[in-house]
Amino acid sequence: MSVLSGKKILLGITAGIAAYKTASLVRLFIKLGADVKVIMTPASKDFITPLTLSTLSKNPVHSTFYDQEDENELWNNHVELGLWADYFLIAPATANTLSKMANGACNNLLLATYLSAKCPVYFAPAMDLDMYIHPSTKDSLKKLQNFGNVMIPATSGELASGLVGEGRMAEPKDIVTFMEDDILAQLPLRGKKVLITAGPTYEAIDPVRFIGNHSSGKMGFALATSAANLGAEVFLITGPSHQKMNHSFVKRIDVVTAEEMFIEAHQYFKNVDIAILSAAVADYKPKNVAHQKIKKKDSSLTIEFTKTKDILASLGKVKNKQFLVGFALETNNEIENAKTKIKRKNLDAIVLNSLQDKGAGFATNTNKITIIDKNFNEKPFELKSKIEVADDILNEIVTKISEL
Ligand code: CTP
Repeated sequence: MSVLSGKKILLGITAGIAAYKTASLVRLFIKLGADVKVIMTPASKDFITPLTLSTLSKNPVHSTFYDQEDENELWNNHVELGLWADYFLIAPATANTLSKMANGACNNLLLATYLSAKCPVYFAPAMDLDMYIHPSTKDSLKKLQNFGNVMIPATSGELASGLVGEGRMAEPKDIVTFMEDDILAQLPLRGKKVLITAGPTYEAIDPVRFIGNHSSGKMGFALATSAANLGAEVFLITGPSHQKMNHSFVKRIDVVTAEEMFIEAHQYFKNVDIAILSAAVADYKPKNVAHQKIKKKDSSLTIEFTKTKDILASLGKVKNKQFLVGFALETNNEIENAKTKIKRKNLDAIVLNSLQDKGAGFATNTNKITIIDKNFNEKPFELKSKIEVADDILNEIVTKISEL
């Protein structure tokens, strides 16, 4: 999955011959699952039609503050467009537009939107070779980069003038890769490895029966997605769960029993930076697993249970650089019990769910948590969807590790 998937991209097109390539650019963004809106300078319509771009982007294309031919047309709100976007890309960016951007001119919708946009701005210059190296253009490029805008450099090749040199707009696929790489590099967990346990474990009684619990795995899968969205390489060790995972940064490792989860967790733990153990691991398993299906004979059946290994506590014993986070599901004396677990299992933080809270815990889509760190600072959160809760947990971890 691309980092651009689900992102809102505003594409500003100016009047350069390379504008014809923006049709492929829009298609590439759409294929990656991005939402695209296009603003054109009036003169750029000589190079590519708004109809092509509105069809490909599946959104109306704007080029003026209002459409003079349609008296019912609403004012195109440049502030709204600027605020809508997660990323603003100006491609091709002509010398004229670059100069105006650098100097705060705003005599068209694209420039007004640029001045209002709060999101990261990328620009891909396109012009003839001599224009590209003119001190005035160089000045604009420098100024814009000093504003924090990101330049996608022009490449060398044959130009519209017939001359050969630097000034060609980067190819659409290279623009997309450039943006993806740049966005990825800035994600707070880029380069970090994260281990997450999720779901229930099933402990066999005989070849057809097991003892398990109602954990759906939703919380752990949401944590894995959230960590991956922040740029981490994630190892998701999950017990039996119907949840789906198709994030390219997440490696899913399926296990069934607590023992299998223990082995896999220790295998991956050595190389990770963060471990979050959200699995509802069975605390006990049948002492002996019957080799044949147990026949019903007597009026009652007694099964002897033995303790499983505590994965979290065992990781706490061997941890060195890892930031280790556990979960605690409590019914009474919640905060005190959670704090005791932090100490007993050598954790950096614990995520507390109280069963006293409506909408918290197993098999729901929501959760209500309090995060307690190893210094016993408590941070309560509102009842939220598990996806939002996962984001809160990961953001809290990012803050904590940045303070280390
Ligand atoms: N956990 C684990 N391995 C186990 C049992 C639990 O890794 N065999 C982890 C869970 O994934 C969770 C944390 O331990 O992160 C808390 O589990 P919980 O059942 O609340 O705590 P226990 O230590 O089992 O204590 P108690 O039963 O007294 O509440």
